[in-house]
Amino acid sequence: MKKRWPLIVIFFLLAGILSGCLQMEDQVIGAETGTHFPEETTDAVTTVEDDVDPRPPRDERYLVLVNKTHPVPDAYNPETDSYILEPLETLAEWIRQDGREQKLEGKTVRALIEMFTAMQEDGISDVYVTSSYRTFDYQNRLFNDYYNAERGSSVQTKEAIDCLGAEYIQSHYIDLGKMFLTDEDAEKMANFYSAKAGQSEHHTGLCVDLMAGGMKELNETFADTAAFAWLFDNAHRFGFILRYPKGKEAVTGYCYEPWHFRFVGIEAATEIWEGNLTLEEYLQ
Ligand code: DAL
Ligand code: ZN
Repeated sequence: MKKRWPLIVIFFLLAGILSGCLQMEDQVIGAETGTHFPEETTDAVTTVEDDVDPRPPRDERYLVLVNKTHPVPDAYNPETDSYILEPLETLAEWIRQDGREQKLEGKTVRALIEMFTAMQEDGISDVYVTSSYRTFDYQNRLFNDYYNAERGSSVQTKEAIDCLGAEYIQSHYIDLGKMFLTDEDAEKMANFYSAKAGQSEHHTGLCVDLMAGGMKELNETFADTAAFAWLFDNAHRFGFILRYPKGKEAVTGYCYEPWHFRFVGIEAATEIWEGNLTLEEYLQ
């Protein structure tokens, strides 16, 4: 009998080649039509660490907007409502010792301590808190003092003219041609640098005014200190923003205040700092 095994081997060889060709065609068609999905692979392309944002998640409570058009609600009482205020005893070495009690919201205090500690490690320790949480009564007294000062003095000495310039102020309908301001203009003028009660974010306990050694009063000289230079570059890393930046007066409604820092949390502060934004612009 004739041996058939070579024929059988050839048959299987041909069948194998034909089946391979069909599979390849199937893959090519799949790729063209988009119906072919790569099989799951265990080779991880990204590591878990790559996906983790090291910054704490954004906390909306710290993004509250308080300004001339967003006053705190009438019934708002930060002592008992949304924020738990903590006395700043822990910050004793960084508080201006003028007998006034200073208080801040709890997370803000802790962030401030971390920030001051880092500053100190970088050789800057002559900075201190001069204002923090304010009651409505206190803000009311502050505003009225400024208002009365604006009514009683020559317009040539006005603080707001120094920081905003006469042109900006005149465009807000204040007549600087007069020797003394009308009551209405005095109120507007004071409101360029001081909030009316209910419209100050100092009511929230989320912000501080800072001074550096040698300063007797809050003014723009703070911008020339090593403390300010450090804060300008680093405050966002601790969740704070410069709330009333230079050049953004028309957005915030207030003069440049290099001393006023507001806690918004690290994520928001970093985005605001990177984007050169105000809180108003960030929340739009
Ligand atoms: N100086 C800021 C605007 C305030 O009075 O709250
Ligand atoms: Zn302030």
